[in-house]
Formats: sequence, structure tokens, C-alpha cells
Amino acid sequence: MPPPSTPAPTRRRCLQLAAGGLVPLAARTWGAPSTTVRLSHVVARDTPKGMALERFRTLTEERSQGRIRVQVYPQGQLYGDHDEMQALQLGAVDMVAPSLSKFGPIGFPEFELFDLPFLFDSLEAVRRLTRGRVGQTLLQSLQRQRLTGLGFFDNGFKHMSANRPLLEPRDFVGLRIRVQASRVIAQQMRAWGAWPVTLPFSETRRALERGVVDGTENPVSNFWTQGMQAVQSDLSLTAHGYLGYAVVTHQRFWESLPAADRRLLQGALEDALVFGNEIADAQNDKALAALHLTGAAHLNSPTAAQTRLLKNAALPVHGELAARIGHDWLRTVHNALQKTS
Ligand code: LMR
Repeated sequence: MPPPSTPAPTRRRCLQLAAGGLVPLAARTWGAPSTTVRLSHVVARDTPKGMALERFRTLTEERSQGRIRVQVYPQGQLYGDHDEMQALQLGAVDMVAPSLSKFGPIGFPEFELFDLPFLFDSLEAVRRLTRGRVGQTLLQSLQRQRLTGLGFFDNGFKHMSANRPLLEPRDFVGLRIRVQASRVIAQQMRAWGAWPVTLPFSETRRALERGVVDGTENPVSNFWTQGMQAVQSDLSLTAHGYLGYAVVTHQRFWESLPAADRRLLQGALEDALVFGNEIADAQNDKALAALHLTGAAHLNSPTAAQTRLLKNAALPVHGELAARIGHDWLRTVHNALQKTS
């Protein structure tokens, strides 16, 4: 396992000492941390999630003048999809930021609504949902497992990749497609004629390379930063589903903190998530521009008719979820979305 990243003040201290034994500036202004928050996630630093959580780290350390330290472990260095929630429950880490798709399998099926194909037509629609009563209800539901939900934030819309264009259902037939552990996403792939294969994010690129799976779905920033363009010839810009996150801590940890520290962390996180939402589009656009520029993958855009075919084929997935989590809950979601559009 790679060593934890060295926090900036410590790095500065080391440089100053190495440069001739100067009195360490940071040590004068920032005392030793009295609280450490260990935060684990599975994607690269230069993704919307990686950057938002780095911002959380710097804001917390600045505002507490180094008294609260945040150690961010990116790229599944510490824990992957299978074990990060368990690590949180056991107190091996203090915060995680899984995608919303990863809450269904651990006992929160209400979160599966975010995976519904073509549910959202913009990030604004998502944000208004997460900032309203639906979002509050979802965060509160986490208390069932003594978790505290601290906030939602975006990556963006997912697109399909494979070694051929995937623009309409007949293109998917017979392909094995890597999916997150989400029943909705698995049903969506079956509805389009593919075989869903659930794999942790950290294993996806290798599985594509070895031909264990033929394709997958990602926002462009995740596709690019994992180097999937080296093992997938085509990215089809289907924008068929949303990928976002929730930051979660354990009540045991959260309640062990003084109220003032909780307020400081909550404030730093809120600001970091606003920043994350602001840069999410730009990071995805940058990754798309890089793909264009390097010609590393063919970029395909579906026609309106092809998008309609994908949408219509996936309609039964909405009904299946409603049967599982309750028609009332989905009606509440649709009403909230209508109010916002
Ligand atoms: C995935 O597993 O595809 C995503 O949840 C990865 C992430 O956290 O963005």
C-alpha cells in the first residue's frame, strides 16, 4: 500500500529543515494536530471527487490552523468498493464518499433512484432534488446503520465505452458490461441486451484490458483518469445516467468530536462540495477535450432517434424499481423534479 500523502505543512517543514535547519514556520504557527480525519475514496485525485475532497482537506486545515488534519487516501489505496463501508463501520476510516449507486446493496434501496436511466435532464435537476426534502430524507435514512450523511455532490453524466460504438440497444447485444453493484444499473444493461458484470471500480480497467468485460459506463473524467482509452476504442456520449456521491461518517466518530469541530468540518465540507459541483462539469469537459486532442478513443454521439430507443428500452427498469422501493417514493421524486423544471 502506498504511504499516506504527506500533508502540506509537514512537507514545508521538511523542506525548510533540509534547507539549513531554519526554525520551522509551520511549527510556529500550526501546532501538532489534535484530531485526524481519515478519508478514503476510490478515484484519482484529479477527478471532481478527488479535487472536492482535497479542497475539504485544505479548508479544514486552514480554518483549524492545523489542529484538525484530514488524511485523504485516493484511488482505493486503503479500501475499495467492497470494503470501504465496512471499514467505516469498524472505525478503520472516519469518512468515505461512495457513489450513490453503492448505497442500495448495503441496505439503502431508496438511493437507487439516482441510477434510473434518463431520470435527470440536467445537473441542476439533480442538485435541486438532493438539496430538497428527498435529499434530506435520504441522508437521514443513513441513521438506520448509525451513519451520518454530510452532503451530496456531483460527478456528472455517464457514457458508454467498448471496442465499438454503443448508441442503441442492438449495439449492446451479447456484450459483458462492467457495472457498479446496483440492481438498477444491472437491469438497465439487461434491458439493452448486455450482460452486467459487477466489479469494483479499482478492478475495472484491468478487467477491460484482459477481456474479462467488454465495456463499461463512466463520466468522462473517470474514464480518462483511469486510462481506459488505452483499452477501449470507443466512447459513446449517451449521457444516459447520473453519477454522484454522498459523504458519510460514522456516528461514533462524529459524536466523539466537540460541537465546534463538527461545525468547522461541516462548514469546510459544504464549501468544498460547492467547489466540487462548480468544477465537475469543467473536469469532465477537460477530459473530453483531452480525448479529442489525443484521438485516444473514437467519440460517438447518438442521434435523437437512437437516444429514444435507449430510453424506451430502459422504461421497464423504472417500474421494477418502483415495485421494489415503493411507488409513493418515486412519485415524490418525480413531483420534486417537476417542481424544479
Ligand atoms: C464507479 O464505481 O464506477 C464509481 O462509483 C467510481 C467513483 O467513485 O466515481
